[in-house]
This record gives sequence, C-alpha cells and structure tokens, in this order.
Amino acid sequence: MLDFSHERKKSGCKNISCRLLLLFLLFTSCFGEAPGPSQCLLEPEHRFDCAPEKTLNKDECEGRGCCYLTASDTSDLKQPSCYYPTNYPSYKAVNVTSTETGYCATLLRSTKTFMPKDLMELQLEVFFETDSRLHFTIKNPNENRYEVPIETPPRVRSQPSTMQYDVKIITDPFGLIISRKSTGQILLNTTMAPLLFAEQFIQISTGLSSNFLYGLGEHLTSLNLDLNWTTLTFWNRGLVPRKDTNMYGTHPFYLAMEKDGLAHGVFLLNSNAMDIILQPAPALTWRTIGGILDFYVFLGPEPKTVIKQYQDVIGYPFMPPYWGLGFHLCRWGYPSSNMTREVVKKMRDSQIPLDVQWHDIDYMDKFLDFTYDPDNYGDFPEMVHEFHEMGMKYVLILEPALGLPQPGRTYLPYDDGLRRGIYVTNETGQPLVGKVWPGLSVFVDFTNPEAHQWWYEMLKEFHDRVLFDGVWIDKNEPANHGYGSVDNCPDNTLENPPYVPKVVGDVLQAKTICASSHHHLSSHYNLHNIYGLTQAIASYNAMMKITGKRPFVISRSTFSGHGRYAGHWTGDIRSTWEYLYYSIPAILLFNIYGAPLVGTDICGFLGNATEELCVRWHQVGAFYPFMRNHNTHDATAQEPYVFSKESQKAIRKVVLRRYMLLPYLYTLFHKAHTSGDTVARPLFVEFPSDRNTWTIDRQFLWGEALYITPVLEQGKTEVKGYFPSGVWYDLVTGAGLESKGEWFTLPTPLDAINTHIRGGYIIPAQRPGMTTEETRKNDLRLLVALSADGSAQGDLYWDDGDSLDTYKKGDYSMILFKAQNKVLVNEILHINGEAEKLTLDYVAVCGVHAPPSKVLVNGAAWEDFKYMPGTKLLKIEKLSLPIGKKFEIKWS
Ligand SMILES: *[C@@H]1O[C@H](CO)[C@@H](O)[C@H](O)[C@H]1NC(C)=O
Ligand SMILES: *[C@@H]1O[C@H](CO)[C@@H](O)[C@H](O)[C@H]1NC(C)=O
Ligand SMILES: *[C@@H]1O[C@H](CO)[C@@H](O)[C@H](O)[C@H]1NC(C)=O
Ligand SMILES: *[C@@H]1O[C@H](CO)[C@@H](O)[C@H](O)[C@H]1NC(C)=O
Ligand SMILES: *[C@@H]1O[C@H](CO)[C@@H](O)[C@H](O)[C@H]1NC(C)=O
Ligand SMILES: *[C@@H]1O[C@H](CO)[C@@H](O)[C@H](O)[C@H]1NC(C)=O
Repeated sequence: MLDFSHERKKSGCKNISCRLLLLFLLFTSCFGEAPGPSQCLLEPEHRFDCAPEKTLNKDECEGRGCCYLTASDTSDLKQPSCYYPTNYPSYKAVNVTSTETGYCATLLRSTKTFMPKDLMELQLEVFFETDSRLHFTIKNPNENRYEVPIETPPRVRSQPSTMQYDVKIITDPFGLIISRKSTGQILLNTTMAPLLFAEQFIQISTGLSSNFLYGLGEHLTSLNLDLNWTTLTFWNRGLVPRKDTNMYGTHPFYLAMEKDGLAHGVFLLNSNAMDIILQPAPALTWRTIGGILDFYVFLGPEPKTVIKQYQDVIGYPFMPPYWGLGFHLCRWGYPSSNMTREVVKKMRDSQIPLDVQWHDIDYMDKFLDFTYDPDNYGDFPEMVHEFHEMGMKYVLILEPALGLPQPGRTYLPYDDGLRRGIYVTNETGQPLVGKVWPGLSVFVDFTNPEAHQWWYEMLKEFHDRVLFDGVWIDKNEPANHGYGSVDNCPDNTLENPPYVPKVVGDVLQAKTICASSHHHLSSHYNLHNIYGLTQAIASYNAMMKITGKRPFVISRSTFSGHGRYAGHWTGDIRSTWEYLYYSIPAILLFNIYGAPLVGTDICGFLGNATEELCVRWHQVGAFYPFMRNHNTHDATAQEPYVFSKESQKAIRKVVLRRYMLLPYLYTLFHKAHTSGDTVARPLFVEFPSDRNTWTIDRQFLWGEALYITPVLEQGKTEVKGYFPSGVWYDLVTGAGLESKGEWFTLPTPLDAINTHIRGGYIIPAQRPGMTTEETRKNDLRLLVALSADGSAQGDLYWDDGDSLDTYKKGDYSMILFKAQNKVLVNEILHINGEAEKLTLDYVAVCGVHAPPSKVLVNGAAWEDFKYMPGTKLLKIEKLSLPIGKKFEIKWS
C-alpha cells in the first residue's frame, strides 16, 4: 500500500539512552591535501569516477582534488580518466552509539566537494532487523528529505537473538563493513571510494563478493550482469528495449554470489533517477540524485532465501486468477468487434487453447479511456459477453493519460477528474498538459488518494457497461510523446540537476513530464519511478472492489513491490531471435524481483516475425508465467492460425503441454504468494553450489522440478543444454538422462521443446482442454520422477481459482504426494469442496528399473498398467481415485 500520510519512521537515535562505543578508529588520510602520486596509485579497476557529470581536462580534474589519467595509461579504455585519490575528503563518523536495535552515528564532512550543496552533517542509523536482514539509512538529521512511500516492515523494538552478519563502522574516513559471520566473507565495504551526499547528488560505492551479480533491472541484459564498466540507469522510460538504456521499470536490488556458493542481496530503497556503475574490481557505485540512502542487506545464505528476504521487505506477489495462467492473445490493429470475433473463431477452429482475448487501443473512441468506438465497436459489450459464453475472459488496455475533451464534446471522466483535482500540475498549479494517444492529455496523479477513488469510480462505471475481466495499464512511465509538457518545463534545479543520470535523450524530461511538476505526495522528480506502481495499486484495489474476485492487472512500468499488485510484460520488443533469448533473463529477473506473473510478447511486438521464429517463440512462451502473443499494427499477422498446418500443430502441442501442467504452475504461484518463492526460476537458484549454473540463462526451471531447454537460434534442430548432477526425465517420453553436471546435445526438431522433470519430484498435471475452465474439470495426472534411490515428492494447491484470500480463509486444498520403495501415496494437508470434485486418472512413474509384474491400488490388483522397457516408464491408467481421499499405489 502507499503510505499517503507520508510520515517518516521515527528515528531510533532520539530519546534513547546511548552509550558511546569503542570505535574502530582508522586514520588513513589527511583532509584537504592535494593528491600526491602515491594516492593516485590505484589499479585501473579500483578507480572511481571523479567526473561523473562532465568530461574534465587535467587541470579541471586536479582542481577538484582528483587524479588525472596520463596519456600513457590508457590500456583500459573504459576506466575513468579522472578518479578519486585514496585521500579524497569524505565524511567522518562521530558519536557512534549503540541503540536497542543497532547503531547510530553522526557523519561530518569538513571539506566541500565539487557538487553544489553538500550536506555537511548526516545521520547513520543501523537496524538489526532479523537474523538475516540488516537495514541502514543515511540521511539529513536536520531536515526531512523525500522517502519512497511504500509500506516496509515496521521498526523492530529489540535486536534479534542471533545475527548472521557483523557490522563495523569505520570512522575516518567513514565506511561500513558488513561481513558474513560464518565465513568472514566481506559483503559490503563502503570504504572503496568516498561517500558524497549533496542536495541532488548522493553516491556510495562498495566492493563486491564475486563477479556474479544479478538484478538491478529493468535493463536488457543477460541474467548475470557484466561488471566490465557497465552503467545501469534508472529513470522509467517507454522505449523499444535496447542495451545500455533506462527502461520501463526500476528495481534497485541485486543478488550476489559469494565464492563458496552462498548468496546475499542488497536493496537500495530509493526512487530518484539513478545510475549504478559496475566495475571489475569488482565494485559497485550507487549514484542517485535525490531521496535518502535506505539500504537493506539480506544474508540468505542461499539465493532462494535472499529472494524471499527481499520480498519480506517489498511484499509477496498477489495470487493470480487461474484463468490468468492460460493463453492470451492480442494485437494492436483489430479494426472492429467483428474482426475480433473472427480471430477468436479461428483460434477455436485451429484447436489451440485460448483463454483470454485482449484489445489494445483500437476499441477506444478517439483513444479516450472508458469509452468505446461507437462505429466499429458498437456491440462491444455483446462481444465480451460472447467470449464469456465460450468460457473465455477479456482484458482491455487503459492509459494513465486522459485526453482533453475535443471542442464541442464533453468527456465526463476528464471533467470529474478536474473537479476533484487529481491531475499532475505544473508550476502555475494547473494540470500539466502533454501529448499521448488522444492528443493533448493530462496525467492522473495516483499518489493522490482521491485519484484512487476516482479511478475506481471510472472503472466501475465502465465495467457496468462492459464486463472486462482484467486491465492492462500501458505507457505508465509515464510516457509523453513530447518533451516535459506542451508549455515546456520551468528552468529550475529539479529540471536541470547538477548531475543527470545517463538517460536516453540526455534530459529528465525526454518523453515524459516535467521533473518539477507536482504530485500530491511530492515532485515528479522524486516520484517518477513509482508512477507505474501507484497506478498498479489503484487498479488492483479498484478491480478487487468491482469484481469481488482476484484482480488481473498487467503493467508496463514497475517498481520494487509491484508484484504485490500486478504482473508485467516486457514491452515493445522486436521480433528477432536476439529478443527471444533476452526474454529468458527478463522473466527470470522479474521472478527474482517478486513479480512472477511476467511474460514477453510471443513472436515479438515490432517487425515481422518469421514462421520459424514464431513457432520457437510459442515454445518458450508456453513456459512464461504469463503467456501472451501480441503484435503491433503494421507487422504481418502472427496469431497461431495464420501459419502452416505443421506449425499450428507444433504450437498446439506446446500450448496443450502448458495447459496440462497448469496444476503445477498454479501451485508454484501459491508458493510465491505465500512464501516469496520464484515461479520461473534461474538454474543457479536451485543449484548454487554448482558454479556452472551461475551463468545459465538459455535454460530455466519452473519451480524446483521442471527444466526447460528451448531452441533459441534460427535453423537449429538440436540444442546444447547443461544438466546439473542427477537424473532428468524427458516429460514426453519418460526417458531418463543421467548427468554428472554435464552438457548434452539434444535433438530438437521444429515441433519440439525439451522439458525435463528433475528426479525426486512429482508434478501434478491435468488432461488439457481448450480453456482453463474446461481443463480444471478434467481428471488429474501425476508425473512421478524417481530419484536414483527411488523416491520422489510433490504437491498440489487447489482452490476455486478466482476468489479472494482463499488461502487465508481456508477455502483451499493442499495435498502432498510421496513415492518411496515402489509405493505412491497422498497425504491430505488441507481439503475443501473444490478438490473433492477432482479424481486422479493416470500416473506415470519414470525411472522404474525392473519391469513390475503387478500393480496394487488400495490393496487390490490393478490390470490397467503398461511398462515401457526402453524408457523404464510405468503407466498406470483409468484410476478414477478421488484426490481428496487417501490412496496407495504399489508396484512390484
Ligand atoms: C556528540 O555527542 C556529544 C555528547 O552527547 C554532543 O555534545 C555533541 O554535540 C555530539 N556531536 C555531534 C556532532 O552530534
Ligand atoms: C575495504 O576496502 C578498502 C579499499 O579497497 C580496503 O583497503 C580494505 O582492506 C577493505 N576492508 C576489508 C575489511 O576488506
Ligand atoms: C572489458 O572491456 C574492454 C574494452 O571493451 C576489453 O578490452 C576487455 O577485454 C574487457 N574485459 C573483460 C574482462 O571482459
Ligand atoms: C458484425 O457482423 C454482423 C453480422 O454480419 C453485422 O450484423 C453487424 O452489423 C456487424 N457489426 C459491426 C459493428 O460491424
Ligand atoms: C500550466 O498548464 C496550463 C494548462 O493546464 C497552461 O495554460 C499554463 O500555461 C501552464 N503553466 C506553465 C507555467 O507552463
Ligand atoms: C512486413 O511485411 C510487410 C508485408 O509483407 C511489408 O510491407 C513490411 O515492409 C514488412 N516490415 C518489415 C519491418 O520488414
């Protein structure tokens, strides 16, 4: 939830009995001295940029007390040419005191830096929040600065009894050293470079525990980040994703591997425009132009627990409705309701499952929210009704920018919003006007509680006319087709800060609204990066209130904590093989950010997709947690039915495979919702002690048990895949692949994608139908993948699929499945009515080494079984066992 009151959490340093600590006094430098040759003797990878805002010549660089790179020393072109000497003035910590929950200290600077308005006094507070979570803030003790208004865990009152971390405060120059108690590994060392904290420029650097770092999105990157002088910029921006630019979302969180396979994470809760610089030391610099330093450190010690601990701070993901996991279809450029009916009919005819039909802006009347085109979409409500009759759902797009009424026309949502004062305003206190689809537009300020009420009322009124099931919120960076506003932006320090992060377009106003425009809570300068999040919160709450069911909201722009309210699609990517690959790290990273309902436009959005690319993309996309094929208006059609019979068959096959696996996928979402697990999961998260997995991002897991190895290259009919040590069974044939941690080449014709079940796991599945609604009524299947010692485990979470809080209210079933010593049983942890309708029809056991001579079901001989000696697969059929009653299946 947004904290509208925007009250700062009380300082722990005031009104407490403090006792002065014995300090780790280190006198390493004399302030104010010009750097001598020895203070400049730093390895290139240990040099931190002293001229971030512009290029300096030798005199200018040395004039600010920094070291200049001589011409002979340009071996590494990417290192900064002007860098801090070891004795560059920083803060010194005084009055370090211990509090009930950590430390506090005053940080003093005696020499000004090259940035205007240094804060000469700061306050450090360190909170030992839990055994594995450390929190510290550095801010101005004398004046409140902007802080991100998202809900975070309340302040603890006392220290945890044990702590995985050690904290040292270095006093002069000030630095924090945080280490892992059990191994002594340094996790954070902020003495690598000076701390700068000016009115509009804050920078802190740290050493890293290894070269393996994940997160800091949203950017177009591989899964692990490149530390060879990479700058990652955060200033939400709607543009075609490309490398090295700011993108739609901001997640200033990283997960870092330590050399021994343990992991930790760091989160900077700051929403101002920011650059993060990675350099090969390995080291990282956080450089933000506002707010405070509000850091959380998560000690793990496994990657999984780091991700969960991050979500303990930002919130666990919402539980999507079951239908949200089906196949979604959209394109920009459906000219009429009749053409859309035609699309759905062709999908039906092609016998490819389809759950949700979508619309882009085509349905709107002159691109205005809460309207529909009376000519081409005159029977829009009837169309939606027909989709519902077919067991399908319907989602439509909405924009956060509201068109001004055209001359001679009224547009009630605009008038109402104007009356209620819910728009972002400009210097003269009037609604700021930009240009988006409808032409001249104003921007709703979702940091205003009144705007949430207004948004709810508008959605409700529209929903009374058109029964849409979910909303797609787009262009909420927010995007503006112009610069700042149609009246330009004022000339002030928010519009032109002394340092501008490396944003596309070079200025903060590029394709968005003026930085100094006003929101209810603060300036756009501070709130820009949470605009999408605030719209997602408003949409989630509105849809919950309107439907009384689980909301389904997909958003382009995101910020930390987004996954509590909405999902994400990765925007306007191109229809190329390169983007097909990038979709995998993108969905894995969003799972790490606690926003598991994520997918990429299947076949790509921009440009024409070839048939082969589309087939391969549906194969990967069938394993995105959110599966949608979406296309732009001027590209060739890419709905599955436009392709050849063979290609349609290949797509049908993989979509049916997804539908078969939905009970497993849904169970994974339940675990994400209740314990901060990932759904689509990087291999290293499951196998952190196997270093080969640390860079794998062309293969990925669903949960612990399903491993996906797609073809990502044109013209290839085989793929090399890495398999961690253990046995992996082909989901289709049941054949086992035994690996000692090796690469295998897998034949993969155009109609195939490799999917393996990890030995030791049981996957619940279902006979697939043409919609999730139909599928949910079918019999259940269990896919049992025995480990080398013949055991396996799995579980099923089941409820009605769209009611609110089913888990909290106990309206669900949780059933465990266990196989051991040639016996498969279920264990009913919790049961309600929904699961009582389910029967188990079929069991496949992989890895049965000796042909069984008999099968017993609940003690009685069972004839309907088959054994495949070639693949060592045992199939037990026609079971009809109620899943909510205890059963026992034996083979011998
Ligand atoms: C440090 O603590 C002493 C004693 O409480 C106080 O007099 C002094 O003002 C403090 N210094 C700073 C910089 O806060
Ligand atoms: C922290 O980093 C500084 C600068 O690189 C280094 O001199 C110091 O030894 C490091 N401290 C620890 C505890 O590793
Ligand atoms: C880093 O980048 C530079 C310049 O592009 C290149 O010469 C160097 O090999 C790279 N280093 C690593 C470790 O990749
Ligand atoms: C859709 O098609 C039907 C039947 O052909 C026709 O009666 C109707 O007018 C069409 N609707 C629109 C909005 O074009
Ligand atoms: C503020 O916006 C209004 C339109 O709502 C415009 O008329 C006015 O000129 C703008 N003020 C400035 C200072 O740009
Ligand atoms: C896509 O295909 C259409 C029709 O064949 C063609 O007119 C258009 O130029 C193509 N677009 C691109 C980007 O190649």
